[in-house]
Amino acid sequence: MALLEVKGVTKKFGALQALGGVDLSVQAGTFHGLIGPNGSGKSTLLKAIAGAHFPSSGTVTFAGIDVTAALPFERARAGLSLKFQITAVLPELSVYDNVLLALQAGQSLWSLIRSKTRRAMHDDVIGSLARFRLDGRADDLAGELSHGEQQWLEIAMALAPRPKLLLLDEPTGGMSPEERRVTGELLLPIKSECALVIVEHDLDFIKNICDHLTVLDQGKVLDSGTVDQIERSAKVQEVYTSRV
Ligand SMILES: Nc1ncnc2c1ncn2[C@@H]1O[C@H](COP(=O)(O)OP(=O)(O)OP(=O)(O)O)[C@@H](O)[C@H]1O
Ligand SMILES: [Mg+2]
Repeated sequence: MALLEVKGVTKKFGALQALGGVDLSVQAGTFHGLIGPNGSGKSTLLKAIAGAHFPSSGTVTFAGIDVTAALPFERARAGLSLKFQITAVLPELSVYDNVLLALQAGQSLWSLIRSKTRRAMHDDVIGSLARFRLDGRADDLAGELSHGEQQWLEIAMALAPRPKLLLLDEPTGGMSPEERRVTGELLLPIKSECALVIVEHDLDFIKNICDHLTVLDQGKVLDSGTVDQIERSAKVQEVYTSRV
């Protein structure tokens, strides 16, 4: 059984059909790339999966449960985590406190009182920061980090509650080539514990870390398959050479 199964999802914004019946299947332990021209519906699809938008029709099944009508926090509790296209760290708080808040938001008050001691929380926060090379910046304000470091902080925050599936929307936007390379290096080790659906325009980056790719075009799946299959796809080449 797939970890995530999207079936026939449509999304209308007034007269605009942003998604026109999208299917997407993501297995646990895999990284799945979502590519396509501007406005093809990539962010809308991620939001429909995370519950930030409700689909107009179709279903989203996560870990065997139909979550199509579930609220974002209910999906988060079930193990879904989304980092939006726009950076959303709290710049006036320390790097440490940003992750601490993300960690606490993933837990019920009851489990916070019952099981998580301050020490265990501290170890989780430092562990999350270390994975993204930010443990040396714990006391700095998040707003003082470089753009690339802020993106890493946000990924660390999204991973802090230990989701089963992470959704990332253009995490390397605005990064230098070296920061992109490091981002791929930092993401790969999470594969053993968390699947990934990632939107990216940088095809070299996405091909290096993903097992499967789905190509959207005008709200529909143009093609889907392994990285090799998509690289050889005539339909995809046509869209990328003629319109991107
Ligand atoms: N909240 C909204 N209200 C109205 N239209 C929207 C809304 N969100 C997205 N759209 C429209 O839906 C279509 C798909 O947008 P979406 O943001 O999903 O594309 P995208 O593939 O993520 O593009 P990009 O690569 O530029 O990020 C676009 O035509 C966009 O203008
Ligand atoms: Mg987008």
